[in-house]
This record gives sequence, C-alpha cells and structure tokens, in this order.
Amino acid sequence: MSDEPSNADPGSPPQPDPGRWPLDDALLDRAHRHAVEWLGGVAERPIPPRAGVGEVMDALGRELPERGESAAAVVDRLAEGAEPGLIATGSPRFYGWVIGGTQPVALAADWLVSAWDQNAGLGIISPGLVAAEEIAGAWLLDLLGLPAESDVGFATGATTAQFACLAAARDEVLRRVGWDVEEQGLSGSPRIRWLAGAERHATMDLAARYLGLGAPTVVACDDQGRLRSDALESELARGEGPAIVALQAGNIHSGAFDPFAEACRIAHETGAWVHVDGAFGLWAAASPRLGHLTTGLADADSWSTDAHKTLSVPYDCGIAMVRDAAAMRRALSMQASYLQATEVGADPHERVAELSRRARGVPTWAALRHLGRAGVAELVDRLAGSARIIADGLGALPGVEVLNEVVFTQVCVALRDDPTTEALSRALWEDGEVLAMTSRWHDRSVVRFSVSNWGTDAAQARRTVAAVARVLDGLRSAAG
Ligand SMILES: Cc1ncc(COP(=O)(O)O)c(C=O)c1O
Repeated sequence: MSDEPSNADPGSPPQPDPGRWPLDDALLDRAHRHAVEWLGGVAERPIPPRAGVGEVMDALGRELPERGESAAAVVDRLAEGAEPGLIATGSPRFYGWVIGGTQPVALAADWLVSAWDQNAGLGIISPGLVAAEEIAGAWLLDLLGLPAESDVGFATGATTAQFACLAAARDEVLRRVGWDVEEQGLSGSPRIRWLAGAERHATMDLAARYLGLGAPTVVACDDQGRLRSDALESELARGEGPAIVALQAGNIHSGAFDPFAEACRIAHETGAWVHVDGAFGLWAAASPRLGHLTTGLADADSWSTDAHKTLSVPYDCGIAMVRDAAAMRRALSMQASYLQATEVGADPHERVAELSRRARGVPTWAALRHLGRAGVAELVDRLAGSARIIADGLGALPGVEVLNEVVFTQVCVALRDDPTTEALSRALWEDGEVLAMTSRWHDRSVVRFSVSNWGTDAAQARRTVAAVARVLDGLRSAAG
C-alpha cells in the first residue's frame, strides 16, 4: 500500500497542488459572486430567515461524505444551502437585538485579514496587522476621549471585552490589599464587593461569573434605567474592602447613560474600580452633539465596547480599554520561551483572553481611517437621529406609546396590552420589511427598535414608520 494521498482515487475531487494557491480556478471569484449577490439584495429582501437550523442542516447535508467534493461545489453548497437561513442584518430597517450591519470598507478589510491568515497575537508574527491594530487602539482612545495611556485589547465582543477589563479590575483591587491573584488564585482571598445597576446588561453578570465574582449587589436605577448615585453611595457605605462598580453607557431598552462623573467620584472615594459597559453607547462620546451623554466617562478605570455594533464592522470585534495598562497585562498576559515576545506588555495577546488571535481590530482601523473623526460623529448622529424619527413617527400612530426618553439609538414602544404588543412584533416578522424584536421592560412587553446599522438614515427611518403603520392597520383589519 502506498502512503500517497488518495487524490488518484476514482471519485475524489481534484485537490490543489500542495504549496501552490490555485488562483486559476476562480474559487475566490465564486465566493465573491455569492457575496455580491447577497449584498446587492440585502436592503430589499425580507429580513427574517426563511429556514430554520434543521432545514439548513438538511440542505447542507448531514452525513460526513466519505469522499469530498470540489472546492467550488462546497462554496456553492454553502451559499445556496445557508442563504434561506440567513437574517438580513445588513438591511437598513433591521433593528433586532443590538446588531449592526457592516460598512463596505470594513468588510473589504476583513476579507484581506482572512486571506492573509495572520496570527496577530504577537508583533513578531505579524507586524503589519499588529501595527494597524495599535493605531486603531490609539485612535479609539482619542475619539472616545479616554486616557491616552490606557491599553486596548481587541476581543471577540463586548462580553469578552468586559471579561478582560474585569480581570484587570479583580486582580488589581486584590493586589491593593496585598493579595496576588496571579500567584495565589482566589481561594481564601478577601471578598470583592461587586456592584452593578439593576438594568445592567446580562453579560456583565456573565463576565463576572467567569471571574468568580458571583452575582453583583444590585444598585437601584431610575425610571430610564440609569444607576442612581445616591443608591450607589449607600450600597458602598454598607461595607468596606476591595470593590468593583459597573456602570453603563447605553441601556438596551432606553439607551440611557449612567451619571458617570458622580458615580465615579462616589466609587473612587471608597477605592473602588469603575468599569463602564458601553457596548453600543460608548460611541456617543465620539459625537460633539451627543458627547454630553458621556460626561465624566473618562473618570472610570476601564471601558468595553463593540465595534460590530455602532461602528458597523463585521462580526466579531469587541474592545477592552484599561487605564492601568500594567494591571491589564498582569491579569491577561503569559510568557513562554518559544514565543519571542516583542517585549513584555507589548503584544496584543496580553490584553485579551486569547493567545492565537484573528486581527479583528483591522476592520476597525479601516472603518476609522475611512470615516475620519467627522465621519464617526456623523455616523453616530445619523443613528441617533433616525431613532428620533422612528420614535416621533411611531408615537404619532394611534394606540402606540413610546416608553423611553429617546436620548440615543433605542426606541421601546408598546400597544394597549402585552398580547397586542407581542402580536405587532410577530406581524412585523411575518411581513419582513422591518425587523424589531420583543422584550420586557418595566414589566411590560415592548417592541424594541435598536438603530445600530450604518445604513439606517432619515429616509429609512420614515419608511420604517410607514411599514409599521401598514402592519398595524393590517392587524386592526384582521381583528375586525
Ligand atoms: C449594553 C450591552 N453590553 C454588552 C453586550 C454584549 O455584547 P456582545 O454580544 O458583543 O458580547 C451587549 C449586546 O447587545 C449590549 O447591548
């Protein structure tokens, strides 16, 4: 028996010559054509997926084939099999969850990142892409008005960015009371008081859980979900010792921002570390018109955000920023003789919970380079302006109540009772022109419009209002 690969077996697909990229078989052109077809139709196609996971599994083929199929056939099978199961996040009338579309320049950069296939964990491996990420990190601090000395890590999303920031926080607040987490672990350590607002995002709890912090002490919020500084002050006064406080820039229902200046002052008086979750809302700081929402933001100790939300870069890209760079590196870095580290603290893997990593900050660099400071501000203003148009338009429709003060990109509406509100969300899903999901806020079912896609502008916002009015009319006629 020969050890030769079974390329010559009858029925096996032609394989590329090892060591030579098969540029002549137009495989990437094929993938490009599928992508262009999708992108060309994404603004007008019905937004929800037409097929569920099971149907797509059937279409893709559930059995592992004994013999493979040609690369071109695989690409076609993927595009054609998965397409009915895709949701049109790129539609300018997609308001589901808080998921943005992707800007063309960021998508193009992302394609290059895949083609280059770099492991951007270390500067020595890929100086080219690490350089682009370093620049993007510095630009982000500048745009968001955060301390220039902060360290920036590009993570997979806001959850893992929160994890990176809270890891730095946890280790540093314990270090200050003489406990070395890196050396001693957590068993027997002083207890950390961990506090967060009643309307924090659920992923704050998740990130804290990964780190052994347990559930937070809940701090009361006002009617818009803003943490109340007086409540924070009294919670902190109940105890002493190391503490971490999480604030929020952008409540997922109201879009509201916590009172950063006051809350940071109160927390810092007790020696607490303050983290800000600004998955979509941190970007308000980049807009001269909306920057007032983030007054005092820079007083915090760490910040997390997503580039795949407001900035509209492809999934995935979260960003962790920590003022005390040494604390971040102590918590997250590792060294090994085989790594040829650039210098301690200088490599990207030392700021996130990954060693090998995709250069996911590069599309962010491209988006920032393309938009410039003014373009980012315009993008943020456009999203918030579109939310305003949607709120005003929907609020003027009979029977529709806008429940939140629309300060940023979130609009929560309700009809006369929960079943009617939920029926609207279902009817929108079936109609397909606008996608907005239900949630519960302050004990009511709501339909939530999260404006989080670079393509949503005033015209699309007006079209959204018209589509919702049409769907509501349909519901009323059906109800007789
Ligand atoms: C305020 C807030 N924080 C955190 C997250 C988690 O972000 P990711 O899904 O990117 O991990 C989200 C996601 O919507 C969010 O809106």
